[in-house]
Order: sequence, then C-alpha cells, then structure tokens
Amino acid sequence: MAVNHPPEAALIVDRVSKTFPDRSGSVDALNDVNLSVGFGEFFSIVGPSGCGKSTLLNIIAGLEAEDAGSIDVGENGASSRDESRLGQVAYMPQKDLLLPWRTVRQNAALGLELTGVKASIAHERADTLLQQFGLARFADAYPATLSGGMRQRTAFLRTVLTDRPVMLLDEPFGALDALTRRAMQEWLLDVWSEMQRTVLLITHDVDEAIFLSDRVAVMSQRPGTLIHTHPVDLPRPRTAEIVTEPAFMEIKRDVLRDLQSSMSLNEGLNASQ
Ligand SMILES: Nc1ncnc2c1ncn2[C@@H]1O[C@H](COP(=O)(O)OP(=O)(O)O)[C@@H](O)[C@H]1O
Ligand SMILES: [Mg+2]
Repeated sequence: MAVNHPPEAALIVDRVSKTFPDRSGSVDALNDVNLSVGFGEFFSIVGPSGCGKSTLLNIIAGLEAEDAGSIDVGENGASSRDESRLGQVAYMPQKDLLLPWRTVRQNAALGLELTGVKASIAHERADTLLQQFGLARFADAYPATLSGGMRQRTAFLRTVLTDRPVMLLDEPFGALDALTRRAMQEWLLDVWSEMQRTVLLITHDVDEAIFLSDRVAVMSQRPGTLIHTHPVDLPRPRTAEIVTEPAFMEIKRDVLRDLQSSMSLNEGLNASQ
C-alpha cells in the first residue's frame, strides 16, 4: 500500500519489512510498516512485547538493515542508505549501553563528543544536565555502581545531549519509579518544545504515550505493523492532571481497545520475545 507523505516529514518509514533467521527457520519481525513523522512532531508507538518495536528503531537508526521498503530521515525527507543514517538520529536503545569504563559524566557526554564537540565542553554541558537530573553526585561514578534507574537517566541524558533533530527513544523510562518517571516526562516535554526536536517514542505505558504525544500508533503482534494511529488533540502545555480529563480517557479507551485486539490469545506462549 503506497502512502502519501506530507512534504514536511522529518522521518518516513515506507513499507518496511524485516525477517531474522533463527534456529528453527526465520522470525518475521516487521511487516509492511508505514509511518510518517512531521518536523517537530511527538509520535509514540505502543504494542505488545516482541512485536518488533525495537527492531523498527534499530532499522531507523541504521543499526539493522531493512529487508524491504525504505527509510528517509532528515531535511526534505531525502532518501539515505543504512550506513549514512548512522549518526543522523539521537538514539536511546532499550538496553542502556553505557560504556563500563566511562564515568556517568563521560557516558553522558559521549553523544556530543561523537559529533565532534571538544570533551571539556561536552563535559560542561553534561554537568549542567546531571544537576537537573539529580545525578550530580554520581558524575564520577562508573555504571556498574548505579541503580537501573540512574543508568537509564544517564542514557537518556546522553541522548538528549546528542544534538540531532530526530530523537528515537525506546522505552526510556521503564526502569524508573513513578515520580521520577513523571519528572522525566515533563522534562522531556520541555526539551522537546524548546529545542523543536522530532521525537519517536516507544513505550508500554499508554498514559505516557498519550500524555506526551501528538499522535499514538498501535502496533500489531509480530510481525509488527501499525494498525491504527490516534491523534491526541489535547492542548499544550499539558500537566499531570490531564490524565483524569474525559478527552484523555476517551483516547485512552480507544488505544487500549486497539492494543487488546492487536494481541492474540497465545501471546504468552510465544517463546521468542
Ligand atoms: N538480531 C536479532 N536476531 C534474531 N531475532 C531477533 C533479533 N532482534 C529481534 N529479534 C526477534 O524479533 C522479534 C521482535 O523483537 P523486538 O524488536 O525486540 O520486539 P519489541 O521491541 O517489540 O519487544 C522478537 O521475536 C525477537 O526475538
Ligand atoms: Mg523492545
């Protein structure tokens, strides 16, 4: 199915499919995924576990190659090959991938350093955010000594500091307690609106997806495809109370209904998650 993409799209995923070989043959991870995210848009994807969400982000980031279809990232939606997509997006993978031999400060600054910023300047900018993230005391600590939540905040900070117009976030707040999670969400909204970034977020949390996003897409069970996209026409700036408003709950009901229908009964029996 061909899709008409708006010319202002910052990210276009066009009919992307992906199959992985495995011991018993192959795993169809993605099937015909179509997606178009506008410049400055906040777009979220929710879907059952194992449906191919992380695979999609890996492909967009250029870490995996698509088997079919194409991805366009960047100015004018210009087409680019896998290798040249690497480094075009700021990517927070589901696994935090902190470098064990670098301190929190050095890990946080890594994305900036990789884009050519001098280490001392990158460290200074990281320090400012470490303060805001409640990590200042741990700036010289190594990842192995941190809690899961602190590691996740460090990885998130690194991603935010990576100065790229498109940000891909794969379940960025999953390891955080409810309060820290809410603080991070509000902080992310500030960054997003100030810096006019384009965000593609994966989350299990329907409230989080609606609270943050302009649109929320529901992905089907594996092989994943986007089955429905819900516009979130709620005013901004949004505050925590919005989750109890009828307009919010109506969207939530629709998303949950799609999510429910996207899961088949034998989901729990699926070995390859
Ligand atoms: N590199 C890989 N090699 C083989 N199978 C993979 C690989 N990456 C993911 N898969 C499989 O593809 C499917 C989708 O995985 P993933 O994208 O991680 O799902 P999600 O992020 O939605 O939980 C799963 O069945 C997973 O086991
Ligand atoms: Mg995943």
